[in-house]
Amino acid sequence: MKNILVTGAFGQIGSELVPALLKKKGVKIVVAHDKRQPPAGMPGIIELADITDGAAIERIIKKYKIDTVFHLVSLLSATGEQNPNLAWDVNMNGLKIILDLAVKYKLRVFWPSSIAAFGPTTPRDKTPQETVLEPTTMYGVTKVAGELLCQYYFKKYNLDVRSVRYPGLISWKTPPGGGTTDYAVAIFYEALKTGSYECFVKKDTILPMMYMDDAIRGTIKLMDAPASKIKIRTSYNMAAISFRADELVKEINNSPFFKGSTAKRGGISVLKVTYKPDHRQKIADSWPRSINDSQARRDWGWKHDFDLAKMTKVMLKNLQKSL
Ligand code: SER
Repeated sequence: MKNILVTGAFGQIGSELVPALLKKKGVKIVVAHDKRQPPAGMPGIIELADITDGAAIERIIKKYKIDTVFHLVSLLSATGEQNPNLAWDVNMNGLKIILDLAVKYKLRVFWPSSIAAFGPTTPRDKTPQETVLEPTTMYGVTKVAGELLCQYYFKKYNLDVRSVRYPGLISWKTPPGGGTTDYAVAIFYEALKTGSYECFVKKDTILPMMYMDDAIRGTIKLMDAPASKIKIRTSYNMAAISFRADELVKEINNSPFFKGSTAKRGGISVLKVTYKPDHRQKIADSWPRSINDSQARRDWGWKHDFDLAKMTKVMLKNLQKSL
């Protein structure tokens, strides 16, 4: 891992992965690829290109002598339902282009799958590593197909491609965008900005979640692990915390940090939440409540650090500064 390409680098994961990779020992360059204009202060070498333009991606790989790709470009679950054709094109054709180039230039690849690979026929509690995969969203369909494609390239071409099924990722650097689990991010913004939030899932909705620092650390750990430890070439279950929507509300309201900060912001010291489930409730109801990730813990030493209280504290602390 010396010359790294991160695709979709300005998105939720990329904007935190790029700086983390730049700090990593042995890394020489990190090329941050996206098709949009970069946010202010985006580190790394910026390259703009469409992910479905294979020739443009190949030029970037050659220009910087890339050896490792973190392929993050993706439409998420809710946006994918608004435009299923685009979701298929970007998520599947983008991945195929990266895998083919990886074979050609002998690159290592990280590609994220998701809890969206599961569906209503999957056991919802402590979902096992190997289980039924019958998702009902286009996003989920591209994740299952992508997992199988990765495993196919590993078996057929001996390509070192690794993957995890991320739960909902919670972070403060990039605003929420197009996911079903994003209520758990948006709620922090509204808590600090207005003190009220209309939640698009029911209060008893439980979904697997993870604080971004854990996700980034885990991702790099997976890519650093010796190939002999990687037993799963579809995608590893990876879990941290599961909570009800109203448990998160309670945690925010009980946080001394929230009370302290809002008192200074015009006296709002209580977060009031109303629940108005929309089309995303159906997506949430089709996903697991909790995940069994013992294989990732056993194979390459995955371990999470942030529980609900610690995550809530850092979210409030950092967002308060940045808002
Ligand atoms: N966070 C994603 C979503 O909600 C799940 O991978 O779409």
